[in-house]
Amino acid sequence: MTQGPINVFEYEALARERLPKHEYDFVAGGAGDEITLGRTRTAFDSITLRPSMLVDISQVDASTTVLGHAIPFPIMLDPAGWHGRSHPDAERATVRAAGAEGTVMTLSSGSTLTMEQVAGAAAGPIWWQQYLFEDRGRTLEMVNRAREAGYSAIVLTLDITVSAKRERDVHNGYAAPMSPNYAGWPKLEWLVDDLTSSDAPAGVGSMISRSATWSEVEWLAGQTALPLVVKGIMAGEDGKASAECGAKAVVVSNHGARQLDTTFASIEVLPEVVEQVAGRIGGARRGADVLMAVARGAGAVLIGRPMFWGLAVDGLAGLRRVIRILADELRMAMGMCGRPTLETVDASLLGGGSPLISGLA
Ligand SMILES: Cc1cc2nc3c(=O)[nH]c(=O)nc-3n(C[C@H](O)[C@H](O)[C@H](O)COP(=O)(O)O)c2cc1C
Repeated sequence: MTQGPINVFEYEALARERLPKHEYDFVAGGAGDEITLGRTRTAFDSITLRPSMLVDISQVDASTTVLGHAIPFPIMLDPAGWHGRSHPDAERATVRAAGAEGTVMTLSSGSTLTMEQVAGAAAGPIWWQQYLFEDRGRTLEMVNRAREAGYSAIVLTLDITVSAKRERDVHNGYAAPMSPNYAGWPKLEWLVDDLTSSDAPAGVGSMISRSATWSEVEWLAGQTALPLVVKGIMAGEDGKASAECGAKAVVVSNHGARQLDTTFASIEVLPEVVEQVAGRIGGARRGADVLMAVARGAGAVLIGRPMFWGLAVDGLAGLRRVIRILADELRMAMGMCGRPTLETVDASLLGGGSPLISGLA
């Protein structure tokens, strides 16, 4: 390749050459037989676009607003642990790339750098990812710290109460490293379970509440002035419950197919969730995927793995280029479809005939 990678898949291929196998596998892999991982791509690939001609597309504008933040395109950064595996600048590079491109970064609570270090390097809006811990005091301690550090929303991840069987990681003997965000926490035992793997390090994973119900979300929404975004929603009724418990948005997500194998792709369940509450979605690799998600009701798309590929190839510059490639592809698809703004994008843009999607439309 003389000019370097020109799409997200090529970034992944190059990142794969550069990363140690166990790190590449941890990022790229999914749970179980990786059926849902494959389904995510198949679902996007099975959607068709219906272009309209002779629409004034002299100005294509993909800008939108999320929880009060104006962003130039509906693409934001997912929370994903330990960017240091891809580049020594870790989340400092990520937050600078997000700021330079004008979008929102969500910091994983499993980050390589502390939330304060990342906030100190931020040049734009940042959100904080949180778990519900068994001990409410611990949950509040983190949420309050995030608010003081300058984070403007709390993204509450609900879908890793159970450690998944990610077989690539089991074979590689891989366990997520402990984040300095948890430094000083007492009784953080390193529980090694040789048959599972999680995005939360073992000691932290063991503190995540397995008994929490929706009342816990309602409680947290009442404890913080920051807007709550609930992540890991895959059913309309859970979208409804999120809204009723005070969430301002949900992330429709199967955790990058890293938790429950054989569940749907996020894009498949998106419409039933956005009927209940404004949603966002993960899994996109092409600008057209972003357009399809918006047409199915998403306010924005969050990207996870592509961050690691961009950082591994060229640090901050690599991630900026990954974001820009997706944004350029999105604007190109909007222009070709005769949809010059996101307000003009709706379900009429989508063709039928997809066996994976039509039953759910
Ligand atoms: C390496 C890795 C680490 C992740 N860590 C977290 C995490 O700490 N918290 C969280 O809520 N989601 C985490 N996720 C899930 C992402 O936020 C997101 O749901 C998923 O990666 C989206 O799919 P995509 O990677 O295909 O874009 C992680 C994903 C990856 C790939």
